[in-house]
Amino acid sequence: MKVAIGCDHGGINLKPVLIDYLNKKGIEFIDFGTFEKTSVDYNDYAEPVCQAVVSGKADKGILICGTGIGMSIVANKIKGIRCAHCHDVFSAKATREHNDTNVLAMGERVIGPGLMVEIVDTFLNTDFSFDERHIRRVQKIKDIENKNFK
Ligand code: RB5
Repeated sequence: MKVAIGCDHGGINLKPVLIDYLNKKGIEFIDFGTFEKTSVDYNDYAEPVCQAVVSGKADKGILICGTGIGMSIVANKIKGIRCAHCHDVFSAKATREHNDTNVLAMGERVIGPGLMVEIVDTFLNTDFSFDERHIRRVQKIKDIENKNFK
């Protein structure tokens, strides 16, 4: 498995904890920044992470900002991305099983490092259920991506 990761200044302290977890588990990753505490726009980090997932360069994406909200909004604008904004382990498991989400967004100002690692571990290690009703619902999400809203 290969994971694309990114954060803004609001997630800069949790990203090293994420990297430490990925290294310990032997999970390959591509780090799209940010690498400094200077204020930046979360958009500029969510986009390349999601591009890596859509193109197949990465299997999953993990985004951290202050709240996880800005990152998740940007990610869910990108065709092919289903981003889950999760701050608990139950949701991380359920969203993989039910929504086949490929990107996880979290907020450093909301959760601590221990919970973040558990959420990431659950997200990366839970498979989609392939239950007929969940396949149908995920397909309906994909159908919306191809609609032209005026
Ligand atoms: C940055 O101050 C903050 O707005 C950002 O990290 C994120 O929380 C946005 O949704």
